[in-house]
Amino acid sequence: MTSRRHVVLTMAVFLTASLAAEAQTTRSGREIYESTCAACHGTDGRGGSAIAADYPIIPPDLTDCAFATREPTSDWEVVTRHGGPARAFSRLMPAFGEALSNEELRLAVSHIQTFCADPAWPRGELNFPRPLVTAKAFPENEALTTVAAGSGAFTQKFSWEQRLGPRNMFEITAPVAFSERTPGDWTGGVGDLAFAFKRALAHSSRRGSIFSAAAELIVPTGSTERGIGSGTTALEPFLAYGQRLPANIFLQAQFGGAIPFNRDHADEAFWRAAFGYQHAAGRYRRTIAPMIEVVGARELVTGSPTHWDAVPQIHLALSTRQHVRINVGARVPVNDRAERSTQYLSYLLWEWVSGGFFTGW
Ligand code: HEC
Repeated sequence: MTSRRHVVLTMAVFLTASLAAEAQTTRSGREIYESTCAACHGTDGRGGSAIAADYPIIPPDLTDCAFATREPTSDWEVVTRHGGPARAFSRLMPAFGEALSNEELRLAVSHIQTFCADPAWPRGELNFPRPLVTAKAFPENEALTTVAAGSGAFTQKFSWEQRLGPRNMFEITAPVAFSERTPGDWTGGVGDLAFAFKRALAHSSRRGSIFSAAAELIVPTGSTERGIGSGTTALEPFLAYGQRLPANIFLQAQFGGAIPFNRDHADEAFWRAAFGYQHAAGRYRRTIAPMIEVVGARELVTGSPTHWDAVPQIHLALSTRQHVRINVGARVPVNDRAERSTQYLSYLLWEWVSGGFFTGW
């Protein structure tokens, strides 16, 4: 029976771990890993030992950079300390909070991080919480729906983001928009589709920064008659930057422009910055991130005003696995308030690569 073998394997691992923890160690991360984790994860991190022992759940291949660089180190530390269920994974990933000291635990996790040796992959630490308006620099595997509601207009956008290798990402966005032409007379339909490509140009875990360039092509599929389309194809090139600051504070910034192909429309420049604080709540350190964005835009026509908005918001991980998140906030005009009104914004985000929407709660 294989289940007896699992019990024996788990017990043996615990015994060695506890004995090792007793003797105040000066062991290296590798030594801790090899005595405590390798029985299941394999010396090379590929999970070979669990496969050989016929373990019912095969641990993930820790050498696979696409997997290993997705989430921040803190998530792995939580799983190692409290066991798989801390992120809605199997109990067969045991909790080591008792068997290992905090330092040993960190050393073991830093050892498994050496398994992905390819520096082309930006690390999960640089994957900051997503602001409502400012684009992220980190390439993602996510699906999200964003809602914007203001006086006389309602837009819901569906986006699919897909990573292509270590640095690149492709995104498709389809909006459904409704607008009130005259009081009480609403009309709606599919808005302008958008296709974007992003590439992380530079990143450094040590400096805590990531820098990307992207271009978005907006296609006039929406109806201008019904007020739900721009009526022109447009190109939106932009740069995005993320920076970790001390005390769990982060900054994300975006700078770009919109270039309509129809030259009757004006070019526009925009700049956006989001400051946030990443709080790890409770025992399982779930992410809560309050943020404030400052958003500026100006049509590149002489005499046209610069519009400034402030966007206070709160980003929350809903699922235990942290792969389903929401953000709610408001985009409040700072100037020209007579012509512009407050818009309420929200997104629901699903990092599909970490598991089905309904798993991981
Ligand atoms: C008794 C077997 C066993 C031992 C010992 C073990 N693991 Fe695991 N580990 C697993 C299994 C099984 C999974 C996969 C769980 C799942 O996907 O539901 C896993 C998953 C993980 C993950 C991935 C979590 C994620 O985000 O997907 C990490 C990180 C991890 N283990 C770290 C460690 C460390 C560090 C040690 C040693 C201190 C260790 N494990 C010891 C069985 C084990």
